[in-house]
Amino acid sequence: MNRKYRKTVIAGNWKMYKTPSETKEFMTEFKSIMPKGRWCDVALCVPAVCISAAVRAMRETRVGIGAENCNANASGAYTGEIAANMLLDAGCKYVILGHSERRAMGETNVDVNAKVLAALENGLIPIICVGESLEQREMELTMAHINYQVRAALSGVDAASLRRCVIAYEPIWAIGTGKTATSEQAEEVCREIRAIIRDMYGARAARGVSILYGGSMNAKNAAELLAQPDVDGGLIGGASLKPNDFATIIAATGEANE
Ligand code: PGA
Repeated sequence: MNRKYRKTVIAGNWKMYKTPSETKEFMTEFKSIMPKGRWCDVALCVPAVCISAAVRAMRETRVGIGAENCNANASGAYTGEIAANMLLDAGCKYVILGHSERRAMGETNVDVNAKVLAALENGLIPIICVGESLEQREMELTMAHINYQVRAALSGVDAASLRRCVIAYEPIWAIGTGKTATSEQAEEVCREIRAIIRDMYGARAARGVSILYGGSMNAKNAAELLAQPDVDGGLIGGASLKPNDFATIIAATGEANE
């Protein structure tokens, strides 16, 4: 982390794990133990049906609620889909885009880019996910793959809008597997992402963009990962489902910078 230049962000990704009633329970408990320091931005990205319960519960707090996907179109005949402006109107501040689980369902780089543009146009903060598979890592294609994903996702995004983007490096082999990237591996790729941003937008923009690590980050390993200079926070799956664990990770961002 480097708080002099950029925000620390801890974001939860609930995936398809909680109902609206469970959301309410979580928020009540989390509110009572949530670290009060203002040293990092906290986001909870929840299933679409949980957004309104989450927004209502966290209204008076500094926690921003987010969605896990959006449709790139403003409106239209897209049964079952949700547009970015609907998320904003429902009280969302963030939206996760290009998660590897969605890419595995067929989402392409072109789709991700269209969604990023739609999110920005509607005032949402996109959390843009990139990451290599185990096969790509073993073939030493990690950096080439990340390069392509980052450039594709940000195609047509101007420098002013980039300031509102968050990028998350999530190696696919580390997601939900309990197999975390080492802090060196996480730092190496996050540093490379910053170099790509520098090449695209210049040094100042690169210094200011928050780059998160995601993939089995938990209450135990968070402090070490967050101590890396180019790891500005975390996108947390499993550990964001438990109020205690999520609160501990937020607290770790305080420790890591002291
Ligand atoms: P995990 O998920 O923390 O459960 O590995 C991370 C993610 O998919 O964003």
